[in-house]
Amino acid sequence: MGITDSELEKIKEQAFKDFEEYINPMKVRTLNQAGIHLMEGKREGASVWDLTGKKYIDCQTGSGIMNVGRHNSEIINALKSALDSLDIGVFLFFSKQKADLAKKLAEITPGEDLSCTVFGVGGGEAIDTAIKLARGYTMKTEVIYTEKAYHGHTGFALSAIGRDGYREPFEPLIPGFKMVPYNDLEAVKATITDETAAIIVETIQGEGGINIPGDEYLPGLRKLCDEHEICLILDEIQTGMGRTGKMFGCEHWDVVPDIMTLAKSLGGGIYPISATIYRKELQDFFIPHPFIHLSTFGGSDLGCVVGLATIDYIQKNNLCEHAAVMGERFKQGFTTLTQQYPDLLLEVRQKGLMIGLQYTNESIGPRMTKKFADRGLLAVYAGTDSSVCRIMPSLVISDGEVDKVLEIIEDSMKELSGEKGIGQED
Ligand SMILES: Cc1ncc(COP(=O)(O)O)c(C=O)c1O
Repeated sequence: MGITDSELEKIKEQAFKDFEEYINPMKVRTLNQAGIHLMEGKREGASVWDLTGKKYIDCQTGSGIMNVGRHNSEIINALKSALDSLDIGVFLFFSKQKADLAKKLAEITPGEDLSCTVFGVGGGEAIDTAIKLARGYTMKTEVIYTEKAYHGHTGFALSAIGRDGYREPFEPLIPGFKMVPYNDLEAVKATITDETAAIIVETIQGEGGINIPGDEYLPGLRKLCDEHEICLILDEIQTGMGRTGKMFGCEHWDVVPDIMTLAKSLGGGIYPISATIYRKELQDFFIPHPFIHLSTFGGSDLGCVVGLATIDYIQKNNLCEHAAVMGERFKQGFTTLTQQYPDLLLEVRQKGLMIGLQYTNESIGPRMTKKFADRGLLAVYAGTDSSVCRIMPSLVISDGEVDKVLEIIEDSMKELSGEKGIGQED
C-alpha cells in the first residue's frame, strides 16, 4: 500500500517543523507569508509538485538553475553512467572530463579570446576567482560594481553586491570597491582611476529586478575597459546557458568580456559546478602562480560530465531558439495584460525567458506571489525589489504551459484589481 495523503501531509508538516527548528525559522515564516507552503516533491520538465501532490509550473527555478528542465533524465543518465567509473577526482591532477569541458566552453563562448577556465562549485566562488584574476593580472586594486547588483555572498562577491542589507552586518568588506548606478556610463567614466582593475556587471541584472541595459551600455563598458586597460567581468550566472534566447546574454550586444562567470544552469539542475572563463592573455598571471587559486570540489570530474551533458542538451534541442520563441509568446500576452491592468502592471522587461513584471507598487509582489501559488504557479518577487516579479521558467516550457502561466497571471490580476489598497503602498 502506498503512502496516504494524510500521511504525506504529516511528513510535510514535520519537515517544516524540523526546518524551523534546525535550519532557519524566519525563512519558513517569510515564505509562508508569501503563500509559498511548498515542499518540493516530484520534479519534471517545466513543473514541480508539492510533496502532497499539488502541481506548479515553476517560473522561479532557483533564478535560473533549471534551464534544461527539472530532473532532466538525459543529464541524470550521463551522471549515472559516469558514476560507474568516476568519483569527483583529485583537483590537483589532470582529467579528460575537466579538459573536455574547458575546451567546450572555449568553443561556445563568444569571440576567439575567451579560452581558459578556472572551475569552481558555485557562483560566488566563480565571481571571487574573476576578481582575484583581474586584480592579480592588472596589479591594480579598484573594482567598480553597480547598485542593485547581485554576485553572491562570498568575500569578493559580497563586496560587489549593490544592496546594503546584505553587506552592512559584515563590514568592513574588502577595500577598493566603488559602487555606481547600473546602466550609467558617465558614472563609470567618473569613477575610473589609474588603480581600476575591473568593472563587474551582470549582463542583465536579475536579483535587482530584471534590469536590461540600454544598447550603448555594454559596448560602452567594453570601450572604456579597452581604453584604460581594465578587465571587463560579465556575470552570466543568470543570463548564460540560453536563458535570454542566445547562449550568453552578451551576444545580444556583440560584447566579449575579459572574464565571464557561469554557474547555476551549467550544472543542469543536477550537480553543482561553476566556471570563470577568461581571455588567454590573463594566463600570464598563472605562470608564476599555477597553484594560487585552488578549489577541492571545483570542476569535479562528475560536475564536468554534467556540464558537458547540459551544453549538449541545450545545443541539440535548440533551447536558445526555443527560449526566444517562448519569450515572444509571453511578450504578446504581457502586452495585453499591461493594457488591461495599468493599476497593477507598469511595464514588462524581458529578454527571451528572463522576464520581470514591474508592478505599480511594492505591496503587489507578495500578494501576487500568493495568488499565483494558489493557482499552481511558482513565481516570486525579486530579492532586492518586491515591486518586480521574476518569470524565469525552464527553457523546455511548451506553448501550452506558457499559455497556462499567462492565464494564471491574468486570473490573479483580475482578483487583485478587485481588492482594496491597490495603487497604495502597504
Ligand atoms: C547573477 C548572479 N551572480 C552570482 C550569484 C551567486 O551564485 P551562488 O549562489 O551559486 O553563489 C547569483 C545567485 O543567484 C546570481 O544570480
